Amino acid sequence: MNRQLACAVDDLAPGESMTLEGDQIALHRAEDGTFFATADSCTHEKWSLGTEGEIEGDELVCPLHMARFELSSGKPLCLPATVMLATYQVEVDGDQVYVLSQ
Ligand code: FES
Repeated sequence: MNRQLACAVDDLAPGESMTLEGDQIALHRAEDGTFFATADSCTHEKWSLGTEGEIEGDELVCPLHMARFELSSGKPLCLPATVMLATYQVEVDGDQVYVLSQ
């Protein structure tokens, strides 16, 4: 298991997303302050959800063709996405945010 330092808690405002170093993982912060990590690339086509994705409630929207995913599970909620988005465990340790991946 790889524990990657993502950012400090205050580096990501609620409702925002960022792509982590390596470009494979996106970190999202829901409006209530909860962090989620998913694959960076939309499963419909290759599009960065860390850079371009939009958070609406507990859903992540890909603005290219408006696919929606459940933030917590990566489950696709509408077309054109039909494939699950990979999700990763997030740990908040003090004021640092870590993402656990294989
Ligand atoms: S690339 Fe994300 S919906 Fe098409």
